[in-house]
Amino acid sequence: MLTRTRRGWELPEARATPEHVFWNRRRILAGMAASGALAGPLLAGVSARAAEDAGIAADLYPVERNPRYPLDRPLTDAELATTYNNFYEFGSHKQIWKAAQDLRLRPWTVTIDGLVEREQVIDAEDLIRRMPLEERLYRHRCVEAWSMAVPWSGFPLRALVEFARPLSGARYLRMETFLDADMAPGQRAFWYPWPYVEGLTMAEATNELAFLATGIYGRPLPKQNGAPLRLVVPWKYGFKSIKSIVRFSFTADRPQTFWSTIAPQEYGFWANVNPEVPHPRWSQAEERPLGRSERVPTLLYNGYGEFVADLYRSLEGEPLFM
Ligand code: MTE
Repeated sequence: MLTRTRRGWELPEARATPEHVFWNRRRILAGMAASGALAGPLLAGVSARAAEDAGIAADLYPVERNPRYPLDRPLTDAELATTYNNFYEFGSHKQIWKAAQDLRLRPWTVTIDGLVEREQVIDAEDLIRRMPLEERLYRHRCVEAWSMAVPWSGFPLRALVEFARPLSGARYLRMETFLDADMAPGQRAFWYPWPYVEGLTMAEATNELAFLATGIYGRPLPKQNGAPLRLVVPWKYGFKSIKSIVRFSFTADRPQTFWSTIAPQEYGFWANVNPEVPHPRWSQAEERPLGRSERVPTLLYNGYGEFVADLYRSLEGEPLFM
C-alpha cells in the first residue's frame, strides 16, 4: 500500500480464468467432496482439498438480499473483485489470489475475549451457522483510490457483539487476522507488525452498516477476499476491512492497528472516507471503479452519511478522515 506503482484499474495479464470457469471449478470440486465417491488416503487428500475449496458452510448460499442498501453504480465484475486484491499476508501486490489458496480454512477457530461475560473459542462454521445471514450490496473504497461495488453475504457485526455479551467497560472491538508465516509468506516481512489488527469503537461496531462477510457473489468468500470471516465497513477506507479474522477482543483502550503502527501520519484509526481530505501523498477527491476507465467523484463517508454521520458529531477534534 505504501509503495504501490500499479494503478488500480490496470488488470493483470495473468488473470486468465473467466468467471464461469473460476466458479465451475469450485462447484465441481465441491460436488466431488460431497459425493462421498472418493476413497483411500490419496483421494482423501483430494477430497479434503475439494471441501476446502468449496468454502465454509457452502450449502448456506446464496442467501436472501436485504434491499435496504441499494447501489448507485453497477456491480463490479466478480472475476475482477476476486483477482485484484490486497492481502499483504500473501504479498504486497494485487495478484495474490493464487498464493492465497494456501490459506487453510479447516480447522478455523474464532476467539472472543477481553471484556466479555464469558470468553469463548468457537469453530468458524458453527458461528456462521448461528448467525442471521443476508446479502448486502455495498460500495468499497480503497485508500489507494480504486473502488468496487459487490454483493457481500454475511451478518451484521452487531449480531456477533450480542453473541459475545460484552461488559459495560468495553469501548472498542479489536480484531486480529491469523498469524502463520509458513502458510502466508508475506508474514515473513519482518518490517510489518504482524498480525494484521483493526479496531472499531463499540458505537461503530454496532452501527447497522458494520457487517461480517462470509460470502460474496452468492457464494462462500474466496480465500483471497478474506475467508472465512472478513469485516466490511463501507464508510471507511478499505484497509479497515480486516480479512480472515481469528480473534475479536473487547477492550477499554483504543487498539493499535496494523497500518497506524506502520505509518500513523497516513493511515489512522478512524479512516472515514472524505473526498475533501487528501491522503498526504495523493488526492481522495475521485476514485477509479475496477473495470472502468473513467474516474468518478468520491462521496463523503463513501455515500453512507445518513447511516453513520451521527457517530462522529461529538468527535470533531479527532482525525476522523485519515
Ligand atoms: N486484511 C488483511 N488481513 N490483510 C490485508 O493486507 N488489506 C486491506 C483489507 N483487509 C488487508 C486486509 C485493504 S488495504 C483493502 S483495500 C481490502 O482488504 C481489500 O479487499 P479485497 O482484496 O477483497 O478487495
